[in-house]
Formats: sequence, C-alpha cells, structure tokens
Amino acid sequence: MISQELNEQITRTGPGTDAGAVMRRYWQPAALTEELNGNRPVVPVTLLGEKLVLFRDNDGALGLIDRHCPHRGADLCYGRLEDNGLRCPFHGWHFDRTGQCVEQPGEPEGSRMHEQIRSTSYPVMEKNGIVFAYMGPDDPPPFPNFDCFRAPESHVFAFKGLWECNWLQAMEVGIDPAHASFLHRFLEDEDPADSYGKQFRDKAADTDMPMTQLLRDYPRPEISVEETDYGLRLIALRHLRGGQSHIRITNQIFPEAISIPMSREMIITQWHVPIDDENCYWYSMFTSFTGPVDKGKMREQRLKEHRLPDYAPLKNKRNDYGFDPEEQRSETYTGMGLDINVHDQWAVESPGAIFDRTKEHLGKTDVAIIRYRRMLRAAIEALKEGREEELPMRNGIDPTEVHGPISNDTIGDGENWREVSEASDAERRSACADWDATVP
Ligand code: FES
Ligand SMILES: [Fe+2]
Repeated sequence: MISQELNEQITRTGPGTDAGAVMRRYWQPAALTEELNGNRPVVPVTLLGEKLVLFRDNDGALGLIDRHCPHRGADLCYGRLEDNGLRCPFHGWHFDRTGQCVEQPGEPEGSRMHEQIRSTSYPVMEKNGIVFAYMGPDDPPPFPNFDCFRAPESHVFAFKGLWECNWLQAMEVGIDPAHASFLHRFLEDEDPADSYGKQFRDKAADTDMPMTQLLRDYPRPEISVEETDYGLRLIALRHLRGGQSHIRITNQIFPEAISIPMSREMIITQWHVPIDDENCYWYSMFTSFTGPVDKGKMREQRLKEHRLPDYAPLKNKRNDYGFDPEEQRSETYTGMGLDINVHDQWAVESPGAIFDRTKEHLGKTDVAIIRYRRMLRAAIEALKEGREEELPMRNGIDPTEVHGPISNDTIGDGENWREVSEASDAERRSACADWDATVP
C-alpha cells in the first residue's frame, strides 16, 4: 500500500501535475487515423485532461489545437472546416493547423490583432493507424524503432477502447502476468484454429496444448523483472511437469505502454492513455510477423464489442459487464463472456475511478507493479529537479536505436530463459519475409 499523497502524485496527469509532466515528455496516442476518415475530419480529443480538437486541413496535414476558441471560448469541434483551417462559427475567427489566428472577419478592416492570437497547438504524427501528439516542452523526441512503427502499414492494425478508470490501474493489469491464470481462465478450451485476432486462444508455443489449458494448469508463475532502456522486461516462468518451462516475455514501455505476445503471428503494443484522471483509452497496435493483418476481420471482431464514435465497450458497469452466474459456474472464471478485454475492463474499473491504493496489499506476483511505480517516481523526482536527461529514452539513448521489444511465448529450459526466448524470437523474425523484423 502507498500513501494517499503518493497515490495522487502517480495517478494525476492534468496540466501542472507531476506524473503529467512525465507523460508530456513522450508521444501520446491522440486518435485513430480511421476517426478522420469521414467527410468532415474534425475530432474532439481529450488528452491528459486537456480539451483539444484534431482536424485535417485542405493540405491533408493534421492540426491539434485547443478546443476552445481564444476569442470567447466557443467549442471549435463545431468549427467550419474551410479555407485550409478551422473557422469558429461564433464570430468567424479562422485558425490554421498551428493554432495561429489568420483572420477575424468582424474586426475593423486592416486590423492586425489576429497576428497576436495563437491557440495552444501540439505537434502530431501519424504512425500505422494512430495519430500521436507531443504535448511537452521543446522539440518532440524521435520515435523508437519498435516493431509496431517499423512494420509496413499492411502489417499493423490499430484499435482503441474506453475504460472508465484512471490510466495507472489500466496499465497495471498489463504488467501483471499472474492474473491471466485466473481472470482469463476458460473452463473449457476452444479450438485454437478459431483463435485469429484473440489473446490467449492459440496453442502454447511449440506444443499442442491450448494456451488456456496451460494458464489454467500452472497458476503460479515465477515472475522476475529487469530494467531496460525503454522500461521493464517481465519474465514469467511456468514450470511444467517434465522439466520444461513455459517462458513468457512481456514489456512495460515507459511511461504508459506495454508490449505483449498475442499469438505466434502477432504481438500487441498497447498504450493506456489518460483522457482525464478518471477515464482512459487503450490504444493497441497489432503487429504481424507473417502476412498482412486481416484488418477487416480484426475490426469487425472489435466493433461487435464497441460503439462508435467514442469506442465505448458495449459491456460495461451499467449492464454488469454481461455477468452471468451460470456461465461463471460452467464456462468462464468471470462469467463475463469470452472477450478477455471485458475481463480486464471489469478488473480495472471495479476498484473505482482512482483506486485508493492506501487499501491495497501487493504480493510477490506484483513485482513489476512495484518496480514500475519506482521508475515513475524516479522520473517525477528527476523532472522536478531539472534532470530531464534521466528519463527513460531521453537519457542519451537514441530512441531510434531501441528495437523490439521482444515479446514472446516459448517453451524450453527455464534456467536459460533468455537464450531460449531470444532464439525463438529470432526464428520468427528471420522468417518474416515482408519486412525487416530483425533486431540488432
Ligand atoms: S468565440 Fe470564436 S470567434 Fe468568437
Ligand atoms: Fe488481462
């Protein structure tokens, strides 16, 4: 458990907050590219507690500016998308994608007041289906060379979903390798042939055992954590009867992403992005090491569970997440259906919007959560003392030199987990014919 003061410090990310200052040193997912596909590409974006509007101008370039008009505050999400910018419907002030006011049609002829008016605006960059924003001071850092950014667009599918809770508890479920044996337990195994696009439904690496069975039969993983250039590497070993171990390598990417294997074909890179302190979006990039991703199928699967335009899950606290006691008795551990996203959503929302961590009791399996909070606190302290160069990936390490990270499930000698998992990962990367997936 931690003090209330510390809980506040590590969860709140609005302007002027400590954790918010750390978040603002990194590119943040702001929207899916597909949200701008309609005939009026203007999207409200709330990010780190700031209300913004994202739009695509006549040049095809993106602008991300303050949602409220600098004149008298009207909502620019209702703006007129015209003249290569966004025009406020209240008095016609016109803004370009940098937030510069370029015209005030009601002010006296020849007025140059508009030259002094500039709205908040942030740099944005599209990467394989996600629009990222940089909300910090100075120039944005380069993007790391992660697989999700390096693979061609055809091999990456991006999606997002709303969770009604603080970003940190959302992220903490992603660095908790123990929960999969319980929360995502299926009492019966589905045919792994139907597993496309689903987590934990494939066969466990190099075996005929469904992953669901492995998780169920071996609920006590040995978990260790290593600090890396990008964040943390999590090693979860499940020691199997017969001497072999199931080795699962996942990652925390500082500050609020994770990278995990989904199947032998794909890995998932997932951000848990604060909308405000009590809501967050998960943004996932599914990256394929084999052929192009079947985006139609992936999207269709996820649209069955989410509504547009806000990507809110159809199962949520207002309908008890679809909880069915009979299903819980006979089919799943949660009674909340087969979509593991719903299980995670319940797990992170049900503690309350911002969990009161003065009441928690962390166990041995929570080792990565403890280590992560330590990293975040160290980053907060470093920034407060003006030592920005101590932050992960801002500390003299060139982000473009950061590859992977290796996210892999395999089976082998648990004592030699590093060699075994690196070899298994290298095999899949060298077999990737469509793009260069090799890591130095
Ligand atoms: S409030 Fe926007 S132009 Fe007046
Ligand atoms: Fe989970």
